[in-house]
Amino acid sequence: MATADFLLGSTYNFHSNEGPSLNLQAQYVSLRDEVRQVIDRVFESQHFVLGAHGRALETAIADYSQTKHAIGCASGSDALLLALMALDIGRGDEVITTPFTFFATGAAIARLGAKPVFVDSDPHSYNIDATKIQSAITSHTKAILPVHLYGQCADMDPLLEISRSSGIPIIEDAAQAIGAEDRGRRAGSMGLVGTLVFIQRRISVALATVEC
Ligand SMILES: Cc1ncc(COP(=O)(O)O)c(C=O)c1O
Repeated sequence: MATADFLLGSTYNFHSNEGPSLNLQAQYVSLRDEVRQVIDRVFESQHFVLGAHGRALETAIADYSQTKHAIGCASGSDALLLALMALDIGRGDEVITTPFTFFATGAAIARLGAKPVFVDSDPHSYNIDATKIQSAITSHTKAILPVHLYGQCADMDPLLEISRSSGIPIIEDAAQAIGAEDRGRRAGSMGLVGTLVFIQRRISVALATVEC
């Protein structure tokens, strides 16, 4: 159960009608040549889905995130769904998670007919409060799904202890926390499976939060 795998969501733009929510031009200028070369290589190969580029990304993400494997998916929502499906979670099952997250976390659970059981968040980190998990466990609990919000990992040691003693697996929603760490362990590498997403705002928010 200590072996974490990664399910990767897709990249997409985040713009409102008023314009980009974040100006990433300065960062792009410093990486422009490298980025353009890679884009050229992808277009020349015409391998837009899976293939060598997809595999290279999966390997790089697995290395970076200290996991054995990484698997590319269409979106973070799909990654969550696949993780839950891999654990055979469905109607009548319960998944303990946090209410303070993007709606996709609870939606993936509900989409399979399972019940999201919301445990309140810790007032300091805004991540799931580990002290409230034990009393939420029932005979129907099939997974615990913490979210590493804004680039800050949930306090994983107490969660891992609960998982170890109860046998209930942990799925980490690391959509907002690629590269974030809890005591040297990368987000998504601590539970049975982790999901992450690339989106400019999330990665930037993550970095800003980690630097604080
Ligand atoms: C915590 C969290 N989980 C899951 C998702 C779902 O990712 P996607 O929008 O790629 O489906 C998001 C997206 O913002 C998220 O912030």
